[in-house]
Amino acid sequence: MRIEGTSALVTGGAGGLGEATVRRLAAAGAKVVIADLSDERGEALAKELGDGAIFVRTDATDEDSVLAAVAAAGELGPLRIAVSAHGGPVAGQRILSRDGTPYDLDLFRRTLDIYLTGTFNVLRLAAAAMAKNEPEESGSRGVVVNTASIAAFEGQIGQSDYSAAKGGVVGLGLVAARDLSAVGVRVMTIAPGTFFTPAFRIPEEQAQEAWGSKVPFPRRMGRPEEYAALVQSIAENDYLNGEVIRIDGALRFSPK
Ligand SMILES: NC(=O)c1ccc[n+]([C@@H]2O[C@H](COP(=O)([O-])OP(=O)(O)OC[C@H]3O[C@@H](n4cnc5c(N)ncnc54)[C@H](O)[C@@H]3O)[C@@H](O)[C@H]2O)c1
Repeated sequence: MRIEGTSALVTGGAGGLGEATVRRLAAAGAKVVIADLSDERGEALAKELGDGAIFVRTDATDEDSVLAAVAAAGELGPLRIAVSAHGGPVAGQRILSRDGTPYDLDLFRRTLDIYLTGTFNVLRLAAAAMAKNEPEESGSRGVVVNTASIAAFEGQIGQSDYSAAKGGVVGLGLVAARDLSAVGVRVMTIAPGTFFTPAFRIPEEQAQEAWGSKVPFPRRMGRPEEYAALVQSIAENDYLNGEVIRIDGALRFSPK
């Protein structure tokens, strides 16, 4: 698929992986909607990128909010690329705490809402807009890229809600690709290992020591630009569909 001349929507576009994706797609000639909750970082990035990007305050979990972001993208050009790369802090507690208290059900629901329902919301509303695009010669009308995690496969202790949500994103991928094949929209899932982003909330050196040292090769955390480069390849390669790609330097999470 050609990126130039299309519009793209990136949820979490003001965060680590999202920001790198916004920059990459804008550099490849797309007009990008930075769909994020953070006004400050979103506005600053849009300003820096000039006419390559706009910021639309968006809550991925909310129907009207995503509809507005999709409509804004449609104003910039045909929406052919939608990337879900939003996320928020997760509690990280065991299902039973030391004193036997079960994990809070509302916290579990909240994590599922952000990571799974939010991703599905973006997928369905972006696909509805893409279905109205003129197809390229290949029949392609667009591509949706979802972000899972290797925690979908090797959830660590204390990650029950996060792993369940990301496992849901993995499960969603193939059925979505099958459903949307009728309209020429591809669906791909990226499962990152550990990438240094603001989500880590600690200095990079400390994060590299804790996480990067566990990666077989390259022995470091992933760089957001490496994730973004994969998004671009997926967008450009029409034969990638319905699959999950791990990008993790051969990292496999241990229980802790
Ligand atoms: N960084 C990693 O190592 C890593 C690994 C595996 C998976 N992931 C996944 O990649 C995605 C991005 O992670 P990141 O490290 O870039 O995080 P980040 O914290 O740097 O960025 C996340 C962005 O999402 C935004 N956001 C939060 N809730 C939102 C909502 N409801 N609607 C719209 N925007 C919202 C935040 O404002 C923030 O800008 C997440 O889904 C995360 O689970 C990250």
